[in-house]
Amino acid sequence: TADRVLALEARRAQAVAGNRPRRRGKFGARERIDLLLDAGSFTETGLFVRARPAGDSADRPYGDGVITGYGTVDGRPVCVFSQDSTVFGGSMGEAFGEKTVALMDLALRTGCPVIGLNDGGGARIQEGVVSLALYAELVRRNVQASGVIPQISVVLGPCAGGAAYSPAITDFTVMVDGASHMFVTGPDVIEAVTGERTSAEELGGARTSNSLSGNAHFLAADETEALDTVRELLSYLPVNNLERPPQYAPLPPPDGVPLDEIVPDRLGQAYDMRDILRAVVDDGELLEVQELFAPNIICALALVEGTSVGVVANQPLHAAGVLDIDASEKAARFVRFCDAFGIPLLTFADVPGYLSGVRQEQAGIIRRGAKLLYAYAEATVPKVTVVVRKAYGGGYAVMGSKHLGADINLAWPTARIAVMGAEGAVGVLHRRELAAADDPEALRARLVDAYESTHGTPYPAAERGYVDAVIAPRETRAHICRALRTLRGKRAPMPERRHGNIPL
Ligand code: COA
Repeated sequence: TADRVLALEARRAQAVAGNRPRRRGKFGARERIDLLLDAGSFTETGLFVRARPAGDSADRPYGDGVITGYGTVDGRPVCVFSQDSTVFGGSMGEAFGEKTVALMDLALRTGCPVIGLNDGGGARIQEGVVSLALYAELVRRNVQASGVIPQISVVLGPCAGGAAYSPAITDFTVMVDGASHMFVTGPDVIEAVTGERTSAEELGGARTSNSLSGNAHFLAADETEALDTVRELLSYLPVNNLERPPQYAPLPPPDGVPLDEIVPDRLGQAYDMRDILRAVVDDGELLEVQELFAPNIICALALVEGTSVGVVANQPLHAAGVLDIDASEKAARFVRFCDAFGIPLLTFADVPGYLSGVRQEQAGIIRRGAKLLYAYAEATVPKVTVVVRKAYGGGYAVMGSKHLGADINLAWPTARIAVMGAEGAVGVLHRRELAAADDPEALRARLVDAYESTHGTPYPAAERGYVDAVIAPRETRAHICRALRTLRGKRAPMPERRHGNIPL
């Protein structure tokens, strides 16, 4: 027996040899797992699985370029795979693909999150169609797992071609500044096909993916920060859709924020919505999702009385908080994520409406802006909305209005819930009178004042019960806590159907 145990140890040592980083500033595939998981918690699956190269090649490394297994993060189970760019460039061959798919199946059977550490060359060219088949198998698992277990992708090197579509389907993607790249076809292929000259960084670097394409959700300065972000993200999430997120000790928000004075008197004046959010959530902590993409809307995870919430808020600091295509799609995906995993939605509205303009219309703001309406109307988790200032037009309806199924709707006295702002409304309603007036500016000012005092308030909405209470800003946290406590047991079954047909 002793001989056999010694032989096993030798074989293990041989199997884990290699897996070293190829570049300075990068960690090896195993080190990354160690950084991500609780110390000593990793158990590997398929250590002795060997590559099955085409033809009579003798190159059959153990592991085949991907390390798979399970462990814990903050004591809760996760499954993880880590692509090893030192073995066949981290490309997906048959054994590599089978290991990844088997790990997905394990995660789905046991209901625990999956984290994929991507760093590879995509489909392994020499293994041909088999590697393509396994990409499709993987994506099918990603889809089956969607809304059942949280799926997080970390891109730590190249992630190209078919390989990019698996992260695209997962819930969140984290990328490292200057080191990660995602694209369907790389710069060389693009130049050959379209003649355009570009770089990997411009095409799908971490900044492009976070701020322009919206393919990524988090930008990290280095690998350690990327893996820390995953741990932080997981801390807000349940392990699967049947469990609740972890419950933490409640922490008060930082005090001293003068909420009653935070909204500027002048309607057109911007302010930072994050100041309001931080004054409401536990310890003032927000984990922003897609912070660099469509900054006119904020999507963030936070805690209220120690329980996870998803915060959606217009950001007047950027483009007056208007809803454009990118903002609608960003928020719609976030709302659907929260709904899938039972995370209550907290909405803060200060929105001038959907963005007008030829480019937005031609790019499909109707179809693509409708996603946010769809997502809110479909969400059955507890929904609490606070109208802070403007809630104009379609913006009123979509930002967690009662009519889309919000449970508790609050408004600050500074709220203006109307079809449009006073200037626009007066222009439309009184065009002829204004044209005929001796002093049109004086008349306009009087009409604007009259409009403001009726429509520029939360009270017409409150009179109809469209808002449940008009509250002083400083009372917001207390109202939200009470609402969320009351809504903990909320049940809102939807009609049975195969699935809805969200406009895509
Ligand atoms: N299939 C098989 N082997 C691959 C591979 C793939 N898809 N991608 C990379 N490799 C191998 C390389 O041949 C090289 O092998 P070697 O060390 O024996 O020479 C090794 O992995 C490292 O690749 P290299 O190109 O030196 O690394 P890099 O960091 O400079 O570039 C990539 C990495 C991924 C950008 C580059 O290898 C690449 O463009 N690969 C092809 C990507 C692709 O089109 N995949 C198909 C998509 S579905």
